[in-house]
Amino acid sequence: MTIQWDTSLSVGVDSIDDDHKKLLNIINAFGSDDEKSREELTVLIDELLDYTRYHFEREEEMMAENGYYQLEEHKQEHGQFIKKLMELGIMLDTEDVEQTRKETSQFLSMWLSRHIRWSDMNYVSCLILADKAKAQA
Ligand SMILES: [Fe+2]
Repeated sequence: MTIQWDTSLSVGVDSIDDDHKKLLNIINAFGSDDEKSREELTVLIDELLDYTRYHFEREEEMMAENGYYQLEEHKQEHGQFIKKLMELGIMLDTEDVEQTRKETSQFLSMWLSRHIRWSDMNYVSCLILADKAKAQA
C-alpha cells in the first residue's frame, strides 16, 4: 500500500506540505513490494522517528506561537503516533518481518492521511484566519 501526494493533502502552507511529502516518501518505502530485511525496516522506522519528531516539533511550535485552541489535543495525537512507532519497532525485533511490514505500512498510511486531512487542515486554517485578522486590525 502506498499513497501518492496530491492537492487534496495540501494544507496550503508550502513548508508543511514539503514535510508531509517527505513523510509520505518514507512511509511508502514500507509499502513497496520489494522484500525488505529486518535491518532495512529498522533503519526506516528510525528514519521516520527522527523525521516525525522534527516535524511535529515544528508544527507544535507554530501552534503554540499562535495560541491554537486545540494544541493539547494535537500534541496528544503526535505523542500517540510516536508511541505506536516505537511499538512497531519492538514488534519488528520479535515478530514475523513480512507481517510486521504490512501492518506498519497500513497503520502509517492510514494515520498520516487522516491526520493531515483532519487535524493538520484544522490548525492551518485557524492560523491562516488569525493571520488575516491580524492583517486587517
Ligand atoms: Fe500534526
